[in-house]
Amino acid sequence: MSRVSFPKDFVFGFSESGFQFEMGLPGSEDPNGDWWAWVHDTDNIRAGLVSGDFPEDGPGYWHLYRMDHDIAERLGMDAARLGMEWSRIFSKPTFDVKVDYSLEKRYITHINIKEEHLKKLDEIANKEAVEHYREIFQDWKARGKKLIVCLYHWPLPLWMHDPIKARRSALREGPLGWLDKRCVIEFAKYVAYVAWKYNDLVDAWATMNEPNVVYSQGYINVKSGFPPGFLDLGAAMKTMMNMIEAHARAYDAIKISSKKPVGIIYAVSCIEPLKSEDEDVARRARRESTYAFLDAITRGVIEQGNIIRDDLRGRLDWLGVNYYTRLVVTSDARLGWRAVPGYGFLCQPDSLSLTGRPTSDFGWEVYPEGLHKVLSDLYARYKLPLMVTENGIADKSDRLRPRFIVSHIHQTYLALKEGVDVRGYLHWALVDNYEWASGFNMKFGLCQVDLKTKKRYLRPSALIFREIATRKSIPEELQYLTEPPC
Ligand code: FCB
Repeated sequence: MSRVSFPKDFVFGFSESGFQFEMGLPGSEDPNGDWWAWVHDTDNIRAGLVSGDFPEDGPGYWHLYRMDHDIAERLGMDAARLGMEWSRIFSKPTFDVKVDYSLEKRYITHINIKEEHLKKLDEIANKEAVEHYREIFQDWKARGKKLIVCLYHWPLPLWMHDPIKARRSALREGPLGWLDKRCVIEFAKYVAYVAWKYNDLVDAWATMNEPNVVYSQGYINVKSGFPPGFLDLGAAMKTMMNMIEAHARAYDAIKISSKKPVGIIYAVSCIEPLKSEDEDVARRARRESTYAFLDAITRGVIEQGNIIRDDLRGRLDWLGVNYYTRLVVTSDARLGWRAVPGYGFLCQPDSLSLTGRPTSDFGWEVYPEGLHKVLSDLYARYKLPLMVTENGIADKSDRLRPRFIVSHIHQTYLALKEGVDVRGYLHWALVDNYEWASGFNMKFGLCQVDLKTKKRYLRPSALIFREIATRKSIPEELQYLTEPPC
C-alpha cells in the first residue's frame, strides 16, 4: 500500500461540548439551561424519554480540563473544538440591553450591536464563568494548539426556552426558544460579547452545532428525547428558518470584533437510495436535510418561497462536518422520503446491518465510505474549507473503534487526495461523556471514565489514534484497518 500521509498543517484533535462534559464535580453544575430542566423532569424520566442519568455526575471537564488537555497532548492532538454554554455566561436575561435592528418583512436583516452594548452586557455577564472559560482556553492555547470555539451546542438558557412549559401548552406558552424571534437577537448579543471577550485566544469560531438535529429531534422525531418533544412540522420549519437567520446574525456579530473564520457545524449523513428507482428521492432527501440550510447561509437561497436573501448570503467561512453513518432512503407517500430500517442510523445495537456491516452500541452502522462521499459532495457544492468536526462510535468494549478510527481517517485522506480542502479530523470523543437523552449508556471516549473517581483510562484505540496523529500518517502496520468492515 502507498504512503498515507497528511499535510503538516492538517490537524488531528478532539471535539467537546459544554453540557456533555463540563459537569461532574461540585461547583460545576449549570442548572440554568433548558437541557438541565429537561433531563431532570420527572415526567420525562418516568416516560423513559430520558435516561434518568444526570449531567452533574459527568466527567467533570470544568475542573479537570488540564488533565484532559494533558491526555490530548499525549495522544498527539493539535486542535480542539470546545463548547461554550450560553446559560453559563448569561444566566439572567439580556433583553434589557436594547439594540436596534432592521426588520424587513418578518426578517431580522441586521442587528446594530455597538461597543456600548458590549459594555452593558459585560455588566450582567457571569464573571466567574467568563474568567473560567478564559482559563480553559488559555491552558489549551499555551500548549501551542489550535482552538475552535463552538458557541451553541444545544442548551438554551431557561429564560429563553422552557421546554416543559412549551410542551404542556402545545407551544402556546413560552419562552419558546428558537421559535421566538427574540432568540435570534439575544443569541447575536451573546455571540458578539463572546467574540469581543475571547478573540485573542480563538483560531476559528463555529456559531452552532447541528442545527438540523435541534429542530428535527425537537419537533419531528419526538421519541428521541430532545426538548421540547412536541410533534409539529410547522414548528420544525419555523425553528429551521430562525436558526438560519440566527447563524447569519451571529456571523455578523462575531465579525464586529474578530477576523477569525466563522463556520457552522452540521450533522451530515451519507444519503443513499435503497434501489436505483430511489435516486430522485435520495436527491430530495439530501436537499431537504443538508443543502437547504447550507444554501441559505452561503447563497442566500430560501427554497421555500423561492427567494434570495442578501442578508444571509456569504455568511460562512468554513464548514464543520459531523459524520457518523449513512441513511438509506426510499419513497414515502406521506413525507416524500423515509429512511429504511436495517441501515445507517436505524440498525439494532451491537449487531449487523442488512449489508452485514457491524453496528455500534447505539445501533449505528459502520460505514466509512460515506465520509469520503459527503466531504466530496460538500466541497463540490460550496468550495469552502471543511473540517471533520465529529466522528466516532459508541463502543463500550472498544472492539470496533480501532477499525472505525483508521478507516474513517483513511476516507478523509482519500477525499483530501482528490483535492477536497479538508483541514482536520476531530474525534468524538476524548473521554466518555453524557449522551443527551441516553445519559451515560453510550461510551464514545478514547478514554473510559470512572464516573465515581473521575479517573480516565486509555482505551486501546487511543493508542491507534496517537500513532496516526503523531506521525500525521497511517503507518503501514495499521493499514490493514483501512478497509471498511464487512
Ligand atoms: C452528535 C452530537 C454530539 C454527540 C454525538 C454522538 O450528533 O453533536 O453532541 O451526541 O452526536
